[in-house]
Amino acid sequence: MPLEEPDLTAFPPGFTWGAATSAYQIEGAVKEDGRSPSIWDTFCRVPGAVAGGDTGDVACDHYHRWQGDVALMKDLRLNAYRFSIAWPRVLPDGGGPPNPAGLAFYDRLVDALLESGLTPHATLYHWDLPQVLQDRGGWPERETARRFADYAAVVADTLGDRVRHWATLNEPLCSAWIGHLEGAMAPGLTDLTAAVRASHHLLLAHGLGAQALRAAVPGAQVGITNILTASEPATDREEDVAAARRDDGHNNRWWLDPLHGRGYPADMLEVYGVEPPAEPGDMETIAAPLDWLGVNYYRRSITVDDPSGPAPYARPVTHPGTPRTGMDWEVHPDRLESVLLRVHRDYAPRAMYVTENGAAYPDEVTPDGHVHDADRTAYLESHLAACARAARQGAPLEGYFVWSLMDNFEWAYGYAQRFGLVHVDFGTQARTIKDSGRRYAELIDAHLHPRVRSGS
Ligand code: FCB
Repeated sequence: MPLEEPDLTAFPPGFTWGAATSAYQIEGAVKEDGRSPSIWDTFCRVPGAVAGGDTGDVACDHYHRWQGDVALMKDLRLNAYRFSIAWPRVLPDGGGPPNPAGLAFYDRLVDALLESGLTPHATLYHWDLPQVLQDRGGWPERETARRFADYAAVVADTLGDRVRHWATLNEPLCSAWIGHLEGAMAPGLTDLTAAVRASHHLLLAHGLGAQALRAAVPGAQVGITNILTASEPATDREEDVAAARRDDGHNNRWWLDPLHGRGYPADMLEVYGVEPPAEPGDMETIAAPLDWLGVNYYRRSITVDDPSGPAPYARPVTHPGTPRTGMDWEVHPDRLESVLLRVHRDYAPRAMYVTENGAAYPDEVTPDGHVHDADRTAYLESHLAACARAARQGAPLEGYFVWSLMDNFEWAYGYAQRFGLVHVDFGTQARTIKDSGRRYAELIDAHLHPRVRSGS
């Protein structure tokens, strides 16, 4: 891939430079200090659900190694860290009395981040629903959204004096569609009605959670993170063009339209043929103005019409000859630019963050003790260049987070896919900053502390 120098001057002086993780993917310690099982603990035990039979039982052992991990963030020159809070640590019964030991972990982490000059960006829900709530019906049930609001209030009460930046949910699309329709993520259902019901209750949870955060945290900056894509037809056949439109509805508009007060897209209501269980007032709750919108971007989506497939009846295909990552995901930085500009044009958010962007490659520590991950460096540079172009064209981009700080438990792919700026040896838990991490640190330094170059 050709190297592309990002135009850092396109980013405002106070730009947020971060890396992201999520609780289940890094913490481990699943049975410690009163944590109860989440739906991912359960899903990992379903034979064949996760590559290699991997689980998050130990993951990066971040629950015990968090101090060293904060030091790594400093070495990487980050000024922000996006992490998620584990609901089953904080409220092991889903609701009821909070677990002080669970809250204390995040309390210490937030203090350490602030002491190290890192701004905490907390996500309340990154897919680890307490199993007890799944046993009562999970996201297809309205009660789960109410429980989420209580959970948001508990966390905000403890951390709200120090954490200003909050995301309610990470990628509700994955929880609803991949978890309840495709069955490739927890809780592993393949039921369109359950999936549509889950999608509504996730959005409702976002709205109720935002209210709870704002009530508890004066000046809270509340947003939500969606995985967004550029949906394109594989051919110009009318059927494929219509499939791409459905793909766009499924991935992008189903989430962004209700969040921006437009209700559910009419074309998708027809495609699904399932009425979301909205009660009076729900759509207003969901559409409360956001302080920021998070965009997670990895790849474009090319589809062909697939009448026999699951909703939205659009089958993904890949184009031969396009560079791919270890996940077999196509590398298309220009589509990040177009996604940011499309969101800016169609939804006009007050502020935007790229809350996740990154790539998996099969990295190895070489005998010289380094990880020479030139592909990831090129991926990050070209995607930052795309962000800079979007910012120049008016997208109100306030920050960028690499997925991920370190190699971790990549859901159904287990530990086989490495996304980190930091390599993790899962046998010894040794951490090694990769070349891409060093390059990212250089870029951050160049932006935050530009040196006046003599003679140029
Ligand atoms: C996103 C998830 C994140 C990670 C990356 C690769 O969809 O939010 O947890 O798995 O993909």
